[in-house]
Order: sequence, then structure tokens, then C-alpha cells
Amino acid sequence: MCGIVGYVGQREVVPLLLDGLGKLEYRGYDSAGVVVRHGHELTTAKAEGKLERLRAKLERAPLPTGGYGLGHTRWATHGAPSERNAHPVVDSKGRVALIHNGIIENFLALKHRLLDAGWTFATDTDTEVVSNLVSSHLDETSSLTEAVRRTIAELEGMYAIAALSTQGEEQEIVAARHGPPLLLGYGEGETFLASDAAALLAYTRDVTFLENGDLARLTTAGATVWDAQGEEIERPQHRINWDPVQIEKGGYKHFMLKEIHEQAQALQDTFSGRVDFERRAINLDSLGPLADPDALAGIERIHLLACGTSWHSALIGKFFIEQLARIPVEVDYGSEYRYRDPIVDSRVLAIGISQSGETADTLSAMGAARERGGRLAAISNVVGSQATRIAEGVVYTNAGPEIGVASTKAFTTQLEALYLLSLFLRQSRGKPIDADLLDPLAHLPQAIVETLEREDQITELTRKYFRSENFLYLGRGLDYPIALEGALKLKEISYIHAEGYPAGEMKHGPIALIDEEMPVVAIVTGAQEVADKVTSNIHEVKARDGIVIAVTDRDPSSLENLADEIITVPRISPFLQPIVDVVPLQLLAYQVGVKRGCDVDQPRNLAKSVTVE
Ligand code: G6P
Repeated sequence: MCGIVGYVGQREVVPLLLDGLGKLEYRGYDSAGVVVRHGHELTTAKAEGKLERLRAKLERAPLPTGGYGLGHTRWATHGAPSERNAHPVVDSKGRVALIHNGIIENFLALKHRLLDAGWTFATDTDTEVVSNLVSSHLDETSSLTEAVRRTIAELEGMYAIAALSTQGEEQEIVAARHGPPLLLGYGEGETFLASDAAALLAYTRDVTFLENGDLARLTTAGATVWDAQGEEIERPQHRINWDPVQIEKGGYKHFMLKEIHEQAQALQDTFSGRVDFERRAINLDSLGPLADPDALAGIERIHLLACGTSWHSALIGKFFIEQLARIPVEVDYGSEYRYRDPIVDSRVLAIGISQSGETADTLSAMGAARERGGRLAAISNVVGSQATRIAEGVVYTNAGPEIGVASTKAFTTQLEALYLLSLFLRQSRGKPIDADLLDPLAHLPQAIVETLEREDQITELTRKYFRSENFLYLGRGLDYPIALEGALKLKEISYIHAEGYPAGEMKHGPIALIDEEMPVVAIVTGAQEVADKVTSNIHEVKARDGIVIAVTDRDPSSLENLADEIITVPRISPFLQPIVDVVPLQLLAYQVGVKRGCDVDQPRNLAKSVTVE
């Protein structure tokens, strides 16, 4: 997860940038760099690997003192993790240094245009497109702010950027936010920029959070902010009085809410460095011997083993693997697997899915597969956990620490990891990975950001339904496991009885429960024929006076006069849609739990990692 720090003022800038980046280390990164402007010169220092290496490099070859600058920790997206691809990235005329979090979706088209116009590229990053673009606009205007404004008008995707240039006499940083967080910090004759308040708290507690679409110009006298319409705007200033726990919560009331909001970033971090969008290829080196096409050629069946929320991702994983790689998949609860004496030999690849990597039932199921001669892999969020140690290879979900007991970002990143694994298996079987399978991954973080914008609507409708004692969740196809997960979230967080069902099964039992008291959450997304069938099921609920809360990616007018509440989500792609669809269900469970006064981060009787069978 990339980190951003920027500073204009009189302090010694390099130690300040390194200190701020150090506070962001917990986010994970693979290279780091700083840029300082002295006089009209830009000097950068970058290193692959941990900040320590950058520090050592700067000790050996210090940058000149004085000046102002930017610092960045990078988690590779476009281009390998290397010193060459580390930020800050300077344009080919050497006058703009820029750092960037996120993904520029239209970078290829922009790159071709810039190449035609004579700009050159020294890195594989999408960031260099932005630094060259800003510089190209400096040919038309002497204002860095205006050059960045013209640049962002051309960018598609999700990004937070910060730039400085060799021009002008005043200390100046220009930053823009469209997706990943950015905040400004204020001191006496100094102004700070960061992607996370933790980086600034040693220097200032007076901050302003930028909104999506904002453009900001920082000078030693303070900051000016313009909104997406280009209007100058006063964003509120906050005084951060967080205690250490609140700092960890990043200002959110609960870890669970913070983690729900971190999903756009977590999903980006999970595909970063693993997808080559240009060559349409997947790289999963961490699978070790299992990444070898010959080893994979011998795999005829796959067993997915998991518990709880991870078991729901296994259900979706089955769908992905069977559809994309055409390998038959069985899904088992970790606690049940060995009792059915499964048929396993070396042609079976067993994959334990566990966010913690320590769940006893999943570990024992993995052991049972290995004892019978199966090959063994793990999908986990915790590096070095037991599941990853016993497996021959691992696909890590790079979700960062998940503190809330109810899994959110670990779940959505598991789905993405399973999708990447399915594409990898498809590739190993010599099948092409078409753009319509790959490109939606780049749009996924933005789709999550847009879905999170439904939070106020969900808070509002929670007021009407939080007293209900029963909830039913319905979905079909890939949304059936999402219905199960929505119900589990609500159960865990609010202690309300909730059941998830395949929508078509409702008429075989649960329909008896429907009355004017029970909310039915129906997920109406995906292929037209599936959505039409769920719509018919909604009619069946309404015919019995049930309450319907619909989550849909289609025109809401198709459900007007039918559903009581309609939550719209962006449409992404048939395979990735469930990752988007679960987000409103997470928010609903969270809001209902909070409204009922439950301890949402540590629900009664539950544990984050269940190490007993
Ligand atoms: C516990 C947690 C759940 C989790 C399950 C499996 O029950 O409360 O959130 O889904 O364990 O955990 P794992 O770490 O194996 O994914």
C-alpha cells in the first residue's frame, strides 16, 4: 500500500519525510524514495526494499540540506518493484517530480500520445505518464497548479498525486485526490501532506481531509483547495486528539468500519504486481513449485478447504475455477473434510483458505489432504502463518492487518486472490486471458469507492429495520454465497437471526417465514436471466407482504413499486460483481450492530482466529 508524505517549511526535510514514511510502514511496500528541491534543482534518492535501505543510502550520500520535498513508499502496480520504478518519478524534461497512489486506467493511451509528442519514459510505471503530462502542460502555463488541473482532467482511474516543480521561487506542492486518501496538516510557517494522519501526528494535529475531486496547493503560508468543479473551497479543519488506539483506527469509530473502507486499497494491493495488463498474464510466483506449469498440468481436481467467511469465498472460488480453468472443484468445511474420508491423490490440489492461517479445522483438513498424497496450497492474509508454512505454495491476500473479528477486507481480497488463481490456472492450461477478464480488475477499486458512497443511505434505512428479529438474504449464482455472507455478517455483529438462501430455494421452506415483519435482502445483479429470476422471487416475497431491500446493478426503476429499499451498486464484470455486491451488506450489518449497541469489533463468543477444533 503506497504512502505519501510532503512538506513545505523550514525544517530539515529529509529526516521529516523519512520519519513520516516510517509511520506508514505498517501498510506494506516494496520500495521507497524522496525528492527535494534546492534552489531550482530536483534531487531524488530511491531504494528497492525497506526504508532502512533508503536511510542507509542517504547516510552514505546525503542530499543537500534545506529545501522542501516529497516522500513515497510504493507497492508495485504497473512495473516490477525496483529502484527504477520507485517514486518520486521525474518527467523527461527534468522539471516535475511526482508521487502517486492508485492506478491510472487510461495510462496506455496517454503514454502513446506522449511518446508521439517526443516525451520519453525511463520507468514501467503509470506514474511517469502523469509526471510527463504535468510537464507537458507547463509548456502552456507557468502555474504548476494549472498544469496539474489540466492533467487530472485527462486521467481516468483512482489516484492521489503530489507534484513539485523546478519553476517559481516559492516553496510549492500541488496535490490532487480521486480515490485514495490525502490530508493536509498545518503548522507555523509550514504545511504538510500525507496519505494517512499517522505520518503527521509527531508534527501537527491540525489537519484537513481532502475530498474526492479536490486539488490543493500547499505553500509555507498554508493551503488553497479547489473542488471538482474548480471552485475554491474551505474544507473543515480538524484537531486530531486521538489516543494511540484511535490513531490505529484512523479516525473511524470501529476497526470494522475502517476495514470496510480500506477495501478499495486492499483489493488494489492484492492484484498489484501480479497482473501484467499489457501482456495479459498473471504472475503468482509465491505458489513456489506449484507455479510450475508441469506441476499444474498434473492437477485434475481441486479441493477448497475453509471455515466461516473463508468458506463462502471457497464457494465463489469453485465457480471461478470451474468456469475459467475447467478443473472440477469440491468445497468442504475444514471441520467436515476428514470425516468423509475424501478421495485424494497426487492429482488433487487441496487449497486451504484462511485469513489468519491458524484456524485449527482448516489446518487439520489441509493435513488430511497432504497425508493422502495431495498437493497443498494456501490462500492467507498472514505471512508466515501455519497454513502458509505447511503448504507448498501460497497466494497472499495483501489486505493488511484485519482487527475486527468479522472479516470484511480479508473476504473481498480472498475472492480476488481466487480470481487471480483461476486466471493463473487458465493460463497454465494454455487458454487466453482476454481483456474482458483482466481489465475489470483495474476498475474494481473505483467501483468499491463508489459503492461506499451508499453509506448514508444504508445508515438511513437501518433506522427502519434494526429492530427486526429475523432477516433473510437471497441471491443466485455468484450472489448466493454473497447472500450467505451477508447473513453471517449480520448474525455475527448484531446477534439477529439471519439466513442466506439461494433465491430459488426460498419456495422450498423459508417462504413460510415471510410476513410483514421480516426484511428480505435480495441481490439482483449479474446476468439478465439470473436477475430476472431473483426479481420473480421478490414478487413472491411482496405477494406475502414481506419487506424487500434490493441490492442491484441495474436501473433502479426496474424495481420501483416492488422493492421497499433499493441500494444501487456499480456494474463491474460478471466475475467481480460479487466483490462489489457484498460491500453494502457489510455496511448494513455494521450499522445495525452499532444501532443495537453491540460490540461490533469484538462480538460476543467469537474469536478472530479459532485455534481449537
Ligand atoms: C472465525 C472468525 C471468522 C472467520 C473464521 C475462519 O470464526 O470469526 O471471521 O471467517 O474464523 O477464519 P480464517 O482465519 O480461517 O479465515
